[in-house]
Amino acid sequence: MSKPDQYNVEIPSNEVKDSNIKYFTTYTYGCQMNQHDSERLAGQLKSIGYEYTESLEDASFILINTCCVRESAEKKIYGKIGELKNLKVSNPNLIIAIAGCMAQKDKEKLFKKAPHIDLIIGTHNVHQLVEIVKEFEESKDRVLAVWDQAERLAPDVPTIRRGKISAWVPIMYGCNNFCTYCIVPYVRGRERSRPLHDIIEEIHQLGLDGFKEITLLGQNVNSYGNDTKEYGDFADLLKAVDQVETIERVRYMTSHPRDINDKVINTILNSKKICDHFHLPVQSGSDAILKMMNRGYTTDYYRELVRKIRKAIPHASLTTDIIVGFPGESDELFQETLEFLKEIRFDASYTFLYSKRSGTPAATMTDQIPLVVKKERLQKLMDVQNDISLEINQQFTDTVVTVIVEGPSQRDENRLMGRTTTNKIVLWDKQGTEEVGQLANIKITTAQTWILKGKLID
Ligand code: SAH
Ligand code: SF4
Ligand code: F3S
Repeated sequence: MSKPDQYNVEIPSNEVKDSNIKYFTTYTYGCQMNQHDSERLAGQLKSIGYEYTESLEDASFILINTCCVRESAEKKIYGKIGELKNLKVSNPNLIIAIAGCMAQKDKEKLFKKAPHIDLIIGTHNVHQLVEIVKEFEESKDRVLAVWDQAERLAPDVPTIRRGKISAWVPIMYGCNNFCTYCIVPYVRGRERSRPLHDIIEEIHQLGLDGFKEITLLGQNVNSYGNDTKEYGDFADLLKAVDQVETIERVRYMTSHPRDINDKVINTILNSKKICDHFHLPVQSGSDAILKMMNRGYTTDYYRELVRKIRKAIPHASLTTDIIVGFPGESDELFQETLEFLKEIRFDASYTFLYSKRSGTPAATMTDQIPLVVKKERLQKLMDVQNDISLEINQQFTDTVVTVIVEGPSQRDENRLMGRTTTNKIVLWDKQGTEEVGQLANIKITTAQTWILKGKLID
């Protein structure tokens, strides 16, 4: 079963909850932008008197923030919504809200599929939660709040953050790219950049609140500023963020390979705080498939981009996303992707089975690939990538890396976790002298495919 989100709030340890307090809980699926939307939804609930709980049973408000990028995500979410039905039967006052991309896509159809839902909140309506809850309480009737289009920029709302060290900061919303497989532009609308001044203010304040690392968010961060000439471009933004004194590290996602330019690479090279990790989703290593995907670059262009980045910043890490089984992907074209992976040698690849999204151009393309073939390809791809990731990670054995201490690892309280600027996850046995948020030097003793393990050194 999926876990509830965890916010940076004190949860009372007593087992009996105060019956005068209304509690809420949230479950979030999908990308970091959605995770951040949940922080803004949770903040609004807190502002009208709800307290956070991790317990579904104690909650009188359950919010599910949804993703529809692949069918597998949707299935999981429908399963979760189904689980809530019994809770609603035993507690008719329970409010169940569905927000996010599935809400935006399916709108009132969700009420038909799951009549126990009370509120449907689209991606452009996140900032309206307080009004939506008020309307529901007054009318006692279901509320559908899904605008087809976004206001140019949604106003700021109270936010409660999930972590204490690392925070997400949206810099732009929406996507104009219309890659032929992707539903995101339909559910997140057109690109809108946030004012530079607001972004810098927020980051400065996050630093004062104790956050060390921020991640700038956008579907295609390199398009920052394209919709208005007021704020400069993404490189200008990076330069300004690099100068915010209260924070230590800056990450960003996601970069579109077509739009990242020399100015951005040089800005990162000359910056103090911008991490030397490039996540550049290539999606396929076949020119024919890239064209059908409408990605706007060729493999040769991508090779040249990687060469430039590695020349400028040799120790930078490079990760990617790959889709297998896009319509028309023959064995030969898939082989090109495998070869491309071996040639580029990414630190890690996030690999996905192509999922047909109705309404997108790829959904009606001929020559859809059978699921068994997609699964075989995915396995081959992962086998090749895992070997490469392990080989790259093994080069760190016996070296010393610097991480920001983020806290205990997910599985073991006595083990701490931190990340390098290149986004490698490092685990080590807690010595007791470490403090969350501080830098620590770790000597790597064991390298694995996805993580490095080591010992704290002075
Ligand atoms: N804006 C980002 C992320 C988009 S969604 C970008 O352009 O990189 C994250 C990843 O999901 C994509 O990079 C892509 O690899 C994958 N994805 C998107 N639509 C998909 C689909 N229909 N089927 C399978 N994977 C998909
Ligand atoms: Fe989807 Fe392409 Fe936009 Fe990324 S750039 S969100 S993959 S349409
Ligand atoms: Fe999913 Fe929406 Fe993000 S579809 S990946 S939650 S933008």
